Amino acid sequence: MQPAKEPPRPAMIPIRGVPMIKHFAENWGEVERFQAQPDDLLISTYPKSGTTWISEIIDMIYNDGDIEKCKQDPIYMRVPFLEFAVPDIPTGVELLQKRSSQRLVKTHLPVQLLPPSFWEKDCKMIYMARNPKDVAVSYYYFYQMAKVHPDPGPWDKFLDDFMAGEVTFGSWYQHVRGWWDKRKEQRMLYLFYEDMKEDPRREIRKVLEFLGRPLSEELVEAIARHTTFAEMQQNFMANYRTIPTNVMDHSISPFMRKGVTGDWKTQFTVAQNERFDANYERQMEGTDLCFRLEI
Ligand code: A3P
Repeated sequence: MQPAKEPPRPAMIPIRGVPMIKHFAENWGEVERFQAQPDDLLISTYPKSGTTWISEIIDMIYNDGDIEKCKQDPIYMRVPFLEFAVPDIPTGVELLQKRSSQRLVKTHLPVQLLPPSFWEKDCKMIYMARNPKDVAVSYYYFYQMAKVHPDPGPWDKFLDDFMAGEVTFGSWYQHVRGWWDKRKEQRMLYLFYEDMKEDPRREIRKVLEFLGRPLSEELVEAIARHTTFAEMQQNFMANYRTIPTNVMDHSISPFMRKGVTGDWKTQFTVAQNERFDANYERQMEGTDLCFRLEI
C-alpha cells in the first residue's frame, strides 16, 4: 500500500494549548531547547502585525543603512524565524545556529512559549502589535495564500475562530496582553503598527535609541525611505516572492497586500463589528493596553 500523502493543508497541533502549524509543532523540541545568546535581538509579534516591516527596519540599522547589504538575502534568511519548520527546508533553529553573534531572531510565539534561554540571557526584545481588526483581515488572506495553514473557510467563520483563539499561534488577545505585561520586567520595546504608519521616522528613532545606536538623521531618512510599503512591495528580498508557490501563492493574495490601517472597514459587516467589539471588551478587560483602529 502506498503511504498516505501529506494533506496539502495540515490541521493545527496544539503546543501547551496553543494551536500551532503542524510542522512547527512536530519540531517543537528543537525550539524549546534553543540556546539564546546575550547579544541576540528578539523580534516578537503576533502574525500579520508588521513583522516583516520591523525586521527590515532593524536589519537596515544592523547594516548601518547599507541597502545593498540588506538586499543580499531574503528577509527570512537575514532574520530567521525561530519556530519555523517545513520538511526539506532548513529550520529556523538551524539557520540561527549558523550565526555566531548579533543574531536577529523572529518569533510569533506567545510569551509563555518562548524558549527559557531568552529570559535567562536577558536578551533585548522588540515587540510590535497591530489592532486586531486589521490583523484578523490580514490573517484571513494570509491563511489562504500560505498553505501551511488549514483552510480558513468563509470570513465569518474565520472571524469567530480568531476571536476564540482557534488560529495558529492562538489568541491575539492573550498574545498582546502577555507581552505587554512582560515588558515591565524585561529589556523590551513595545511598538505599534499604527504608530509606525503615522510617523515612521519617530518610531525608527525609538528603535535606534533602544538599541543604543547613534541617532543619525541621515540613517533615519535612509531607513524610512527603504521601508515604505511601496518599496517593500517591490523588493524581492522583503516581499516573500522568492518562496515557492506551493508554499505561498501570491496569485491568491500577495504577502504585501495593502499595508494600511483601517482596511477592516472594507471587510467587517456591521453585525460582525458589533460582535467583535463586545467580545473585545470582555477579552481586554483590566488592561491599560490600547489600540487605534484608524489613524
Ligand atoms: P496587510 O495584509 O494588511 O496588507 P507580517 O509581516 O507580520 O506578516 O505582516 C504583514 C502585514 O504587514 C501585511 O498587512 C503587509 O502588507 C504589512 N506590511 C508589510 N510591510 C509593510 C510596510 N512597509 N508598511 C506597511 N505595512 C506593511
